[in-house]
Amino acid sequence: MTRCDEPWYEAFAMTSRFYVTTPIYYINDVPHLGTAYTTIAADVMCRYHRTRGHESRFLTGTDEHGQKVQRAAEEQNLPPNVYADQVSRRFSEAWPKLACAPDDFIRTTDPRHKTWVQDFWKKIFSNGHIYLGHYEGLYCVRCEGYYTEKELRQPGNICPIHNQPVEVMKEPSYFFKLSQFQDKLLAFYEAHPDFVRPEGRFNELKSFVQSGLQDLSVSRTSFQWGIPVPGDEQHVMYVWFDALSNYYSALTSPEDNTRYWPNVVHIMGKDILRFHACYWPAFLMAAGMEPPPAEFAHGFLTYCGEKMSKSLRNTISPTALAEAISPTIGADVVRYTLMRAIAFGQDGDFAIADLMQRYSSELGNQLGNLLNRVLPFAETVPEKGPLTALEENLIANYPDKAKAAADAFTAVNPTAALGHIWSILALANEYIDKAAPWVAKKNDPVRLGTIIATAVSLLEAVSVMIWPVMPNVAASMREQLGLSPLQGIVGSDQWPHVLPNREPGGRLMRGTPIFPRFEKEKEAELLEKFSPPKEPVMSQEQAPSTAPANAPTTDVAPAAPAAPREAKAVIQYDDFAKMDLRVGLVLSAERVKKKDKLLDLRVDVGEAAPRRIVAGIAKNYAPDQITGKKVVVLCNLAPREVVKGYLSEGMLLAGGDGDVLKVATLDGELPPGSTVK
Ligand code: MSP
Repeated sequence: MTRCDEPWYEAFAMTSRFYVTTPIYYINDVPHLGTAYTTIAADVMCRYHRTRGHESRFLTGTDEHGQKVQRAAEEQNLPPNVYADQVSRRFSEAWPKLACAPDDFIRTTDPRHKTWVQDFWKKIFSNGHIYLGHYEGLYCVRCEGYYTEKELRQPGNICPIHNQPVEVMKEPSYFFKLSQFQDKLLAFYEAHPDFVRPEGRFNELKSFVQSGLQDLSVSRTSFQWGIPVPGDEQHVMYVWFDALSNYYSALTSPEDNTRYWPNVVHIMGKDILRFHACYWPAFLMAAGMEPPPAEFAHGFLTYCGEKMSKSLRNTISPTALAEAISPTIGADVVRYTLMRAIAFGQDGDFAIADLMQRYSSELGNQLGNLLNRVLPFAETVPEKGPLTALEENLIANYPDKAKAAADAFTAVNPTAALGHIWSILALANEYIDKAAPWVAKKNDPVRLGTIIATAVSLLEAVSVMIWPVMPNVAASMREQLGLSPLQGIVGSDQWPHVLPNREPGGRLMRGTPIFPRFEKEKEAELLEKFSPPKEPVMSQEQAPSTAPANAPTTDVAPAAPAAPREAKAVIQYDDFAKMDLRVGLVLSAERVKKKDKLLDLRVDVGEAAPRRIVAGIAKNYAPDQITGKKVVVLCNLAPREVVKGYLSEGMLLAGGDGDVLKVATLDGELPPGSTVK
């Protein structure tokens, strides 16, 4: 059996087993681009490990208990289990349409899950880590979570995520002794320096744990739709205790797959890292089980610059988008764009125009066209004649790139992996340009054979490397190359570390172009159908600005000149109210290398994690002059990459002109996250 010896988390260095999970999704929503993003990423990781011959397993599912679901079922006059059956299907049926092939789909209403979670509870209880107490707090039903007043937007105790007032809840409750796990968790983090990626998120998590942990309320009596607490059926388990357990319960039945534990990577959005990387390891430790060794918290997507609001999630369906692009390879195009356009780990934007651009250039011109440049020259794989410097260079340069792509996949960096694969495609296209098979065809059949055989082996290698991201495209390519479809074989590493050597004589079957050009009408239809609903939203481009055209592009509101002042159109209060303006506390500031006007800030705007804001104030404020200041932040401005690698997630308000620039501060003390209006 092959060994996974890449620079991935140490935990995988000694094993050839790989288990990847997505969060289990709430069923009161539809599968949307955000949940598709995580599911696709997990599928990509699993397929990659399959190419490496690792025994691999991919789990996803639905999170079906809790007050939200109980209320949604009541609204529809359905028993919650009937409602759950109906809506869980939306998820299990969506993923295959996006070429995702989970090995298992767990539902928290599965009997196998209930049995395991109750045993898990009993183990933790009998180990003395759960006790009965009493809880009163501010509870957001939509988050299924309690908040402290400080964490809520004031006045009115408004949930920072759902913008709705939270409820006061008082109930007897079992508590998990999380406070006793602070040191153990910190020791675990210390011993597993790669536990959470990206590193910045790990650091935030560590600070959270270092700041002190309180015992966690893990049962509810205020509703019934949940897993009963063993021995005290008045209580149902807190949904996160129930939900996190899915990652293990799914391994226990119908057949025993527990050998996969703990070789797991949990993939999730940054919003729920704390549950996965603090609570879940603590629960497992309390039961005497091993915590997961690796977790990856990716960033959040906007769609065409718009936040993924509930209405947008309902309008832009990833499966409808895939189908509209092409019934055969549309899913692959969506997968490719998601994995390539948004650096995995960072926040980013998914835009239909960007997808179309990538379709024609990166997919059509660089990948699809390569087949068309090679296959017309031969019906079978030709013999290779003597190699020239061109082939020798190619053969010498290839392995480093193939290794870099594998290493990037191994390190859960599909974006970089695709970058390396596309650099191989660039090499291949350059090779064809220079080798000029059309010239050899005229008078040198031996040379033509060498060129085509070399190009065919490059195409074969690429068909394997793109398979994790584009399984259908890989299958079409392989069909044209006369190769059987790829599938993982445990113990057989199929990654093309060196260029494959095809036997001469194998059939080549030139087919129709894999990425046909979109007709003008289709382009228009895609843009029309998949652009976000038109609303007059103030974007950076539209933001009223009288700053000179060459003013630095920064995320600080453009400064108004002294005079003359251009008249601006009158706006209604509704226009103003669209802005999510909040008090922000600048936690840190650093200069951006080689950009003398920019500061890279971390600003607490009352959310679980601080935001990065890149502001053009470096000429007016030294980093330590702005650190600690309370400023005004426009929080719902579409995130923008101000400088490569610096995604700004908001804008500071400031007054003055280019030379004298003063950030807007507040008269008096307000906590970060307070609304400014
Ligand atoms: N049920 C819990 C998870 C329990 S896991 C033990 C839950 N469900 S959810 O339906 O709200 O899914 C949240 C996850 O969906 C995020 O962590 C992320 O993986 C994905 N996304 C939802 N919106 C997203 C974006 N806009 N962008 C990227 N991913 C996002 O939380």
